[in-house]
Amino acid sequence: MLLTSCRIRGVMSEKTSRIPGFYKLDIKTRLEKVAEFAGLTEEEKSLLLKEGNLDLKTADIMIENVIGTMAYPFAVAANFLINGKDYLVPMVIEESSVVAAASNAAKVMRRDGGIKSKTTGPYMIGQIQVLGVKDPWYKRMLILDAKDEILAQANEQDPVLVKLGGGAKDVEARVVESPKGPMIIVHLIVDVKDAMGANAVNTMAEAVSPLIEKITGGKTLLRIISNLADKRLVRSWVKVYKEDIGGEEVVDGIVNAWAFAAADPYRAATHNKGIMNGVIAVALATAQDHRAIEAGAHAYAARTGRYLPLSTWEKDEDGNLVGSLEMPMAVGIIGGATKVHPIAKIALKILGVKTAQELAEVMGAVGLAQNFAALRALATEGIQKGHMKLHARNIAVMAGATGELVDKVAEIMIREGKIKFNYAKELVEKLSREGEADKSA
Ligand code: MEV
Repeated sequence: MLLTSCRIRGVMSEKTSRIPGFYKLDIKTRLEKVAEFAGLTEEEKSLLLKEGNLDLKTADIMIENVIGTMAYPFAVAANFLINGKDYLVPMVIEESSVVAAASNAAKVMRRDGGIKSKTTGPYMIGQIQVLGVKDPWYKRMLILDAKDEILAQANEQDPVLVKLGGGAKDVEARVVESPKGPMIIVHLIVDVKDAMGANAVNTMAEAVSPLIEKITGGKTLLRIISNLADKRLVRSWVKVYKEDIGGEEVVDGIVNAWAFAAADPYRAATHNKGIMNGVIAVALATAQDHRAIEAGAHAYAARTGRYLPLSTWEKDEDGNLVGSLEMPMAVGIIGGATKVHPIAKIALKILGVKTAQELAEVMGAVGLAQNFAALRALATEGIQKGHMKLHARNIAVMAGATGELVDKVAEIMIREGKIKFNYAKELVEKLSREGEADKSA
């Protein structure tokens, strides 16, 4: 527990994180408490309260204990052609190079109608854990036999979803050996249509648990969605022509890079991180539950008992590069933050997607393109060159460069291998002086 002594208004007082009723205070009062605790300045306080494109009122209803908002860069990746349709892809991310890499990759993936991407359907899994059953295999049969009754009860919870053609569609049951003995795990398979689905699925799982208890004579405990959404997959694939990427040598390099990931989980984690750079940037822009997407992706990558890359890169019979990706993609365009966050609404408008499945298709395609960009860079010049350019520009801006000076300062620092803040400052001063002198000459 954080508990240190400090002197406030001349009296020794305890600095404590225990603030009863913190959640009930308004934003400004909460911020005052935090400011006192952390010694925030007036400037820092007003920066936190500065209203950007997410107003404080909306922020305050989205989560608890809000003391401000935080802005991230919102960018758009260009050049994406997916299933024959052009997309400008909104991306929110703190890492430089990702958006540029996605745009560049998409540029060489426009032939033959671009990247292909399809989904398996918006089926989510709700899990119900059943404990204390002496004859779990027998009771499993009884659960499966009561499928229609279970589904009917689940569907009573969401008549709107059912009217749209969605709702609970199937029941599965497994006997799982756990460290606490066998337990029955029931899966409710729900077509959630355009929602991410957690609310609908959790409500249904809770609603059917008394019936499951009646059938089994056991006790249900957890009733919750599974983020291993392996019935809601996106599959994306693309052919990249060898002449568009520097020839067969580059194709071989990318295939070898993929093989490394397929053989070594240490590399597979980084390989998949590159995919998630693209996927999560779109998820953030459209206010998805990105933790759910991450959890699903990594669980799916490890589904065989070994952590594997989510994508595959091969060379076809003509020497071209062909790539494919398969991963869970639980995203929604109705409900949740997608409809509350004003920027998420704009992001969806820029994308122009009509269904959650279309959004999933775009995100799979972006993941594949992002992965290609990383492997191409790694297998050729290495990624530091591109990174350094942006890094140097950032340092130049931090050192006070504006306009044309940004690129000039960055170029000199890269050329001289000295990408340092102090050096950037020196250069900004020197070049500004020279610029002034030129003007007055
Ligand atoms: C960096 O954010 C992502 C990469 O490390 C992905 C990869 O190594 O494939 C470049």
